[in-house]
Parts: sequence; structure tokens; C-alpha cells
Amino acid sequence: MAEDKKMADVAVSAAQPKLQTATGVHDILPDDHEYFTFIKKVVRHRARQAGYRRIATPIFEYFDVFQRGIGDTTDIIQKEMYTFDDRGGRLLALKPEATAGICRAYIEHSMRLWPQPVELYCIEPHFRYDRPQKGRYRQFWQYDFEIIGETDPALDVQMIHLNQKILGDLGIAHLFDLQINSIGCKVCRIDFINALKDYYAGKERGLCFDCKTRLEKNPLRLLDCKEEDCRTIASFAPKFSDLLCAECKTFDANVKEYLTELGIPYTINSQLVRGLDYYTKTVFEWWDKSFGAQNAIGGGGRYDGLIEIMGGEPTPAVGFAVGMERVVMHMKNAGIRVPKKDDIHVFVAQLGDTAKKKCLKLISDLREQGVKTVGALGKGSMKAQLRLADKFHVQHTLILGATEVRDGTIILRNMAKGSQKIIPFAEAVPAVIEALGEEQLDKYTPGEVLY
Ligand code: HAM
Repeated sequence: MAEDKKMADVAVSAAQPKLQTATGVHDILPDDHEYFTFIKKVVRHRARQAGYRRIATPIFEYFDVFQRGIGDTTDIIQKEMYTFDDRGGRLLALKPEATAGICRAYIEHSMRLWPQPVELYCIEPHFRYDRPQKGRYRQFWQYDFEIIGETDPALDVQMIHLNQKILGDLGIAHLFDLQINSIGCKVCRIDFINALKDYYAGKERGLCFDCKTRLEKNPLRLLDCKEEDCRTIASFAPKFSDLLCAECKTFDANVKEYLTELGIPYTINSQLVRGLDYYTKTVFEWWDKSFGAQNAIGGGGRYDGLIEIMGGEPTPAVGFAVGMERVVMHMKNAGIRVPKKDDIHVFVAQLGDTAKKKCLKLISDLREQGVKTVGALGKGSMKAQLRLADKFHVQHTLILGATEVRDGTIILRNMAKGSQKIIPFAEAVPAVIEALGEEQLDKYTPGEVLY
């Protein structure tokens, strides 16, 4: 019989290839979730402190939202979108970033009538058909902050400062270098693009295939090509700082002055343009000090024209996003560990039907008091259950066998010391709390609901 079953299993596994995640995406297993939970906690805390409110836009939107927002000629729209037709024949796309969807929501829900500026944040997964490599995935998480409805260089700097604080809380701020640039407004941008075109005229042969196209469609992106030859040519190209209009120049000078005021070091990078088309004036990125642009942990900037492009009133805005997988990678590389909130305090082992029933209630009572408790209520020998308790690395085990049920007692074992005592069953909960100490209890409450 066993042999027959084995043969059947082999047949099934031959017929059904092993299933696995799609290319470029990954599971976030419990150990990594500890990091994600910690990052989310830090982000939520800093957001609350500064008056940001959380928003979640849909995972998919009409393709137009991103096409108009991010820009037709960007790599994201040209090469990296996950698009699909729904059954009604409408073209939809998985969101590759948060800003365009948030701006769509700002317009759709008339947020210009809310007190301005509107300060929003989100923590969401995003999707880009990128070439998978270390730190680059097809589904990735970002935390993202946006201030919409007001323009002032102090807001740009406050955003940067906020992320410096978050990275500081996560223990990795020192690993990054803040790169900033101003890419001007729609007025001085025209002069700059003309100057760029003049500069590149006659140099086409030295450019990579993508840059030859960029020269036609999106000349700004010539400046941040990663190819060696293109970089050499770009290093002698005109600089934005020389061609900014008076307003953009003053704005940029103020940004730098306020950064200094807050003690935030920065590197001026005249080639920083960002990969999305919506930016105006300030742009910034946090570069990994050891690897540079290739693995920016986050970036953002001002986007004063976007809401209008998307069909709203002219509305200034600024924002940034940080890739959470990259944050986790840097935290781990730096040897940073996060509080293990999932550690179990107590394991409840039992034998026999009556013991099992009593343990159902006991486990519930322990959890209600903030004691993190697991119990093996399936069938299993006492030995197997105690082995399981060891695997959970619990501090204490409660053991209820037939003898204890009869005597109205329970055994409380200290797993580290290997000692144990018999206590009245009715005192199990207070005895565990005393052994753990009140400060260890998981007393989180979401807050009272109001009627
Ligand atoms: P972004 O520079 O495209 O900006 O993305 C921000 C961060 O998301 C990157 O620095 C990186 O850490 C992470 N990221 C991007 N693509 C991937 C990927 N394929 N795999 C893993 N991580 C990735 C934006 O998304 C803008 N919406 C930021 C912004 C907000 N600007 C204004 N407001």
C-alpha cells in the first residue's frame, strides 16, 4: 500500500512541476517581516509627529493616470509597466509608483478644498517590469510622502529632514549621501534643453543606443545615463545652475540655506535629473555611499506642474519615496537587528480530552492578559509537544496531564533554568505573569471605538 502511494506521489510530482514565485518577485517571510513591521512603525510615528495622514490608492489604475503623470518617454512608461485590458476593454496598469495615483486622488476628491497644504503618506507595494537584480525587484514596497498645495523651499527641506530622521531611527542614515540639484521650472527648462541640444550636436556617435533616442525625446535623461562613454560626455555638459531663471535660483539658494540651517549635509550633483518627468526645481536622492547612484535608497523632488497636467488646477507639490527592500538590505548588512515582537512567552502542553478543553480556555485567558501563548492542541505525545516548545524558544511551559487535571493543578516549567513547580490550575495566569514580569506583556490596544 505504502509503495502504491509512493508511486502515486511520484506520478503527481512528475505531472505537476514545482510552483514558485514569478521572476523578480519574492515572498516576505516572517523573519523579514520583523524588519518591515519595524520600518512601518518608524514611518507611521514620524508621519504622525509631522501631521501627515495615510492614504492608499488602488493597486491598479487606468493606464492614463501613469502615462500622463510619469511621462510618455520615461523608462517606466516605455519599458516597465505591467498593463492589461480588463473585460470591458479598458487599459489598466499596476501602479509603478505612488505620486501619480495620489495626485489623481487629490483632484478626484477635491482636496484643494481641504486645509492646504495636504500632507499625505503611504506604505504600499509597487510594480515595475525592471531587470531583476540585487535591490531591484518587480514588486517592491515604498514608503512615500507628499505635500500638495503649497510652495516654499522650507517644505522641500522639511521633507528631506523627515526622511533623514526616519533613516536615523532605522540606524542607517550615516550610510547615505544626499544628492541634490535644481532642474528649473517649465520656463528656464526650455533654455536648458536648447543648451543641451547644442552641446550634444555632433557628439551623437559617442552615445549609447538609448541616449541617441533620449536626445530626440527626453534630452534631460542624457545627463544621468550610467554608460561610461555617455557619462564622460555628460560630465562636460551645460549645468542647470548656470541657466536657472531668477526665481528658480533664489528657490534653490533657499533650499541649500535651510539644509545648512538644519545641519543636513548634501552634495550638489548637477547631473541629477531623476527618472520621472514630473519634477520641477528641487530634485534629490539618497545614494549609498559605497555604491552611488546604482542603488539609491530613495529620492524625490518638487513637482509643481503635475496636478495641472493631470487635469487639476495649478497646484505646487513636493514628495519623496524610499524603497523598503533596500532599507532592509542595508539594515541587515549593517548588522542592525529589530525588536522581535513575535517571540512567544509561553507554550501550553496538554494530554487527554479534559486537559485539552481546559487548555483552550487557559490559552485564551493568557493571551487576553498580554501573554504571547501557543499551544499544541492537536494530537501529539507529551515528549513531542515539549520538543516543539523548545523550538519556539519559549521562556516557560505550562503542562497539564491527567494527574494535574485530577488534582486541579498545572506544572509551570522554566525552560531556561530547567526547573519546574506544581501550582493550582486557577493560579496559572497570575503565576505566568509574575514569572515574566508585567513589562514583558504585549498590552497593545488599538484604542477604544466610539459610538
Ligand atoms: P523612484 O526614484 O522611482 O521615485 O523610487 C523611489 C525608490 O523606490 C528608489 O530609490 C528605490 O529605493 C525604490 N525602487 C524603485 N524601483 C525599485 C525596484 N524595481 N525594486 C526595488 N526598489 C525600487 C518615485 O517612485 C517617486 N514617486 C518618488 C516621489 C514621490 N517623488 C515625488 N513624490
